[in-house]
Amino acid sequence: MNTNNMIQLQQVSKYYDSAVAVDKIDLTINRGEFCVLVGTSGCGKSTTLRMINRLIPHSGGKILIESQEINTFNEQTLRRRIGYAIQNTGLFPHWDVARNIGTVPRLLNWPKDKIQSRIEALLALLNLPYHEFAHKYPHELSGGQAQRVGVARALAGDPDVLLMDEPFGALDPITRESLQNELLRIQQQIHKTIVFVTHDMDEALKLANHIVVMDQGKIIQQATPYELLLNPVNEFVSQLLGGEDRGLKQAGLMSVGDFMRPIPPTPISTDQSSARVKPQDTLRLALSIMLWHQVETLDVMLNDCCVGQISLQQIMQAKPHASFN
Ligand SMILES: Nc1ncnc2c1ncn2[C@@H]1O[C@H](COP(=O)(O)OP(=O)(O)OP(=O)(O)O)[C@@H](O)[C@H]1O
Ligand SMILES: [Mg+2]
Repeated sequence: MNTNNMIQLQQVSKYYDSAVAVDKIDLTINRGEFCVLVGTSGCGKSTTLRMINRLIPHSGGKILIESQEINTFNEQTLRRRIGYAIQNTGLFPHWDVARNIGTVPRLLNWPKDKIQSRIEALLALLNLPYHEFAHKYPHELSGGQAQRVGVARALAGDPDVLLMDEPFGALDPITRESLQNELLRIQQQIHKTIVFVTHDMDEALKLANHIVVMDQGKIIQQATPYELLLNPVNEFVSQLLGGEDRGLKQAGLMSVGDFMRPIPPTPISTDQSSARVKPQDTLRLALSIMLWHQVETLDVMLNDCCVGQISLQQIMQAKPHASFN
């Protein structure tokens, strides 16, 4: 038995009458992994996710959390171990933010002061100042703020597993990107096992270290973002990856700092040139800035110092690492 396995689906199926929604899938998700299920509408993503926390009973196969069949868990254990966040948040409208976040800890009978400090810690983690947000009601929040509260609530019981079904699907692109960045930042601190559903391949490539492509209830391919971009198994996956846009998406997964020619840090005044990037920027952004400024080399800046240079040729030759990160 591999103790690193957090979630295992073995030949799992879901039938509605004679219709097959999920068809004998095998999937192993390791502890601490950010696994994204991606595929077109109706392919069985939500059904798969909701079978993991028993919101939908599976018709066949086995679902194990840390090697234990989920049907043997009692309700309370299930709630404690698996957090769940969905699109449009599902917040209780007549409860304020603090009470919404405290839902699971209250069900688990945590002492009052522990619940209170958990709510405070989660609001801080999600960048929602306590005095401003704790006593607001869901209708007083923007979509992005409500979605943050939804994530905080899902994390409240300190679950091992976090399930997220298109949590950012209803947000505008800018808010969506900022919440994706927040989620990546939070994951670096909390190291949960996350299973995230989206139909947006760019979101999958950005967030995942394990992408699962589904179609018609089956898993078509599983790989790291890099491996998927390098070797899509068929035309369907290739189309999902954006066809001819693959090169740009690949550049979007590599950072300038990994491919630049470093130089000893040299102070440069900020107005000298606007055609510059930061080490953590992607090669895709560097390419876009080069095109816009019609230059073939950019200074790489860190805290008002030039720390390297990146050239068009370096971008053309950059190859991602193809291993699981
Ligand atoms: N309660 C139900 N009764 C009958 N069929 C269902 C039911 N729920 C889902 N299905 C079917 O199961 C299949 C998978 O649905 P699911 O909701 O998992 O898709 P999805 O990949 O999440 O799609 P979307 O991206 O649109 O949310 C679909 O064909 C759907 O019509
Ligand atoms: Mg769905």
